[in-house]
Amino acid sequence: MVHGRGMSEGTSAKTVRLARGDAPGRPPMTPELDRLYDRLEDELLVPLWTEIGELMPESPRPDAVPHRWAWRALLEMARQAGDLVPVGRGGERRALALANPGLGGRPFVTPTLWAAVQYLNPREDAPVHRHTQNAFRFVIEGEGVWTVVNGDPVAMRRGDFLPQAGWNWHGHRNTSDAPMAWLDGLDIPFSYAIDSAFFEFGAEDVGTEETPERSRSERLWAHPGLRPLTRLGPSPATPLLAYRWEYTDRALADQLALEAEGCAVTPEPGHAAVRYTNPSTGGDVLSTVRAEFHRLAPDTATASRREVGSSVYQVFDGRALVTVGAASWRVERGDLFAVPSWQPLRIETEHGIDLFRFADTPIYERLDKDRVAVAEQEGTR
Ligand SMILES: [Fe+2]
Repeated sequence: MVHGRGMSEGTSAKTVRLARGDAPGRPPMTPELDRLYDRLEDELLVPLWTEIGELMPESPRPDAVPHRWAWRALLEMARQAGDLVPVGRGGERRALALANPGLGGRPFVTPTLWAAVQYLNPREDAPVHRHTQNAFRFVIEGEGVWTVVNGDPVAMRRGDFLPQAGWNWHGHRNTSDAPMAWLDGLDIPFSYAIDSAFFEFGAEDVGTEETPERSRSERLWAHPGLRPLTRLGPSPATPLLAYRWEYTDRALADQLALEAEGCAVTPEPGHAAVRYTNPSTGGDVLSTVRAEFHRLAPDTATASRREVGSSVYQVFDGRALVTVGAASWRVERGDLFAVPSWQPLRIETEHGIDLFRFADTPIYERLDKDRVAVAEQEGTR
């Protein structure tokens, strides 16, 4: 299907342009059919028989392509932006978004997900705002920035995962003498596609001088297996604003240790994995975004796995050979890569790797559109 910019007076530009060549399943072209197609184009009508292959493929054919962004280059450009570009009201954030080469230059890492490196200079603030897009931060290196969510200052340190549901006020403050960069993930492209975005400016001042070790949300919620009696109902997004690296690291190390002791606890040999969950429901942290952490032991190869929906990985530590569809890269600390829908993913390690992953799977699961295929089993669920 060809989408133009609409018909303008005096030109023959058409919004609808029908494929007229001979192809399997299409009727033979005759002068009468040609005239009918002219009229259909004028009346903005499209026959299914010319489009069915594109509209109803046998399996997903994403426009997004597998792609890798090297952290070293990203960080260098973020530093340059730190020298050249002030952060403040209007631009809101000094963030460089990953643009998937298959998505027409838009700042979309996949059709549903946004990923950007955000950079804050020493003693700098990013002003308060709120939006309906769900968001999270993942810290690959550094510390010294606090994200203030509805007045609750949340420290950010290497390995921490910090989710924040839409429509909560938030700003950032760097209280340290060093710059800091981190990964921002949001559902901006999804919100854009479904015309659901709202945005409001808040205070320019982030509004607190407090820099507590633990946020109020952690003091209330970050106690394993315990929930406060004043918060027994489910909340759609996680009330916990920081998932600290020490817990993630220990969960992964324990999983691999249990596997070595003969317990069947890993998804596959040498591959430990955990999902960040909402402590009020046990489900995903955000309604549109799933977040996980994967640790592959040395000399491990994952099964080739395909999923409906897209995901983005960031290397937290280590190296690996990653193959997504026809693309293959050696990735190292900080590197990011996009896995489009239904593209097979396989990861092979020599010395081991730690990988942060986020995906749009909750959207697909809620709509009963999710599907997974693992090569070794050749099955789908
Ligand atoms: Fe924001």
